[in-house]
Amino acid sequence: MTTDDVKIAPMGLEHLRQVRDLGRQVYDVTVKPYTSWSLTSIAEHLDTAEGACWVALADERVVGFVLGSMTFELRDDWAYLEWIAVAPDQQGKGVARRLVEVCCNALFAAGATRVVTDVEDTNRASAALMERSGFTPATTVTLFTRANPAAPDEPAGVAPAAGSRRALIRSGRLVGDKRSS
Ligand SMILES: CC(C)(COP(=O)(O)OP(=O)(O)OC[C@H]1O[C@@H](n2cnc3c(N)ncnc32)[C@H](O)[C@@H]1OP(=O)(O)O)[C@@H](O)C(=O)NCCC(=O)NCCS
Repeated sequence: MTTDDVKIAPMGLEHLRQVRDLGRQVYDVTVKPYTSWSLTSIAEHLDTAEGACWVALADERVVGFVLGSMTFELRDDWAYLEWIAVAPDQQGKGVARRLVEVCCNALFAAGATRVVTDVEDTNRASAALMERSGFTPATTVTLFTRANPAAPDEPAGVAPAAGSRRALIRSGRLVGDKRSS
């Protein structure tokens, strides 16, 4: 299959399960920043109006996706390209570059003055993709954790179960998108 056979299309309800499953295949959902990957987070993206969520399709199979929104913390004019992935058998063919392009174009058309994305520091493929797509590095954030000495050992990257972050935002205990509350 050539890159011409891979079509880029708006993400629809019919793609949700395949998008969720592809994410589970390529993200390590036990460590940051992938711990919030869930059907809820995908569906919330689908609920936005910017048209910044796209899939790459080989026939009917979802082989890639990008999820963006006009939601970056408390800034109304910054957009967030939060999730992107390409199936391992379709990587290295420029599919992600195409997905980034349609997503950013939609966000700029929706009024974004800047699109933000975050890249985990060992993810060379993602960093190369973003640099080749016109992103430049900005602030670097390192998560420091302090273990509760009374709690049983757990890996440092483990975070609350999917959905918990949104529940905390809704209850006002964590700062997040004001449109989520
Ligand atoms: C990151 C990812 C989406 C890239 O998808 P892809 O379709 O293979 O990327 P592309 O083929 O469009 O390549 C984009 C650019 O990045 C470069 N690149 C891609 N993978 C690379 C790698 N492993 N090492 C170095 N550079 C790489 C390509 O050479 C290309 O640069 P070019 O345009 O100068 O040739 C894919 O590797 C992936 O799904 N990874 C797992 C999920 C993930 O980590 N997502 C990001 C965090 S949400």
